[in-house]
Amino acid sequence: MEAWAEENKQEIELLRRNEQFRREFLQNLSHEFKTPVFAIQGYVDTLLAGALANPDVNKRFLEKTAKNVDRLTHLLNDLDEISSLERGELTLYKTNFVIQELVKDVFESLSIKADANHIHCSIKKGCESPLTVFADKEKLRQVFTNLIENSIKYGKQGGHITSSMYKTDGKHILIEITDDGIGINERHLPRLFERFYRTDEGRSIDVSGSGLGLSICKHIIEAHGQTIHVRSTEAVGTTVGFTLDARKD
Ligand SMILES: Nc1ncnc2c1ncn2[C@@H]1O[C@H](COP(=O)(O)OP(=O)(O)OP(=O)(O)O)[C@@H](O)[C@H]1O
Ligand SMILES: [Mg+2]
Repeated sequence: MEAWAEENKQEIELLRRNEQFRREFLQNLSHEFKTPVFAIQGYVDTLLAGALANPDVNKRFLEKTAKNVDRLTHLLNDLDEISSLERGELTLYKTNFVIQELVKDVFESLSIKADANHIHCSIKKGCESPLTVFADKEKLRQVFTNLIENSIKYGKQGGHITSSMYKTDGKHILIEITDDGIGINERHLPRLFERFYRTDEGRSIDVSGSGLGLSICKHIIEAHGQTIHVRSTEAVGTTVGFTLDARKD
């Protein structure tokens, strides 16, 4: 009887939390859409009201409109991604590949953003000898892109981003991305991988983010049957790490 009551209590608690989660989700979603839609509305109305004929502002207002349209597109793509990940629809195409090569590729593709902040990206000393993982390379590219973009965004001018990789038990590879940026207060860490979760510091640095990046990373790593974690110290830096299967023959 007691066990039954306990089980019921847990179930009710779970339902209550799901309900809370759903409400928060909708609230976040409408908030994320409102900002760009209101901005677009503002620019378009101003242009129609006469600014279109004013060469001092018309191009700039259209560019701002385009930027907000981009933001909406980005948001919709992320939402599509998240919902297919959450429906468990993700099909993984796993191959063997050298992890350092993928990391260098992503460093390269983000080099303009990193250079703009004078941030130096490198593979950690001692981690250069090639390690082969068995994973979905394109999905992993997305994980590295999200993590390294974060490290650039929340990094410091002239800072460093390093990636390290280690063989753990012969079957797994541990990969970490470390930055020396603003760091994250301890109280945020338990919720960081939730969709839409952002810190106030994060919001003030990048107004256009949506807080979906890390939750997409978590989904992808968990679809591989692996785990992802974060450790961070405010004003010192952040390390995000995850595991992957080592080469399979
Ligand atoms: N390397 C980091 N250093 C400091 N804070 C970080 C770092 N990575 C993530 N965060 C914090 O975690 C929050 C969630 O990150 P996430 O990548 O999910 O969203 P985002 O970067 O805000 O937006 P998006 O990735 O959708 O553009 C960020 O808003 C930021 O506050
Ligand atoms: Mg991000």
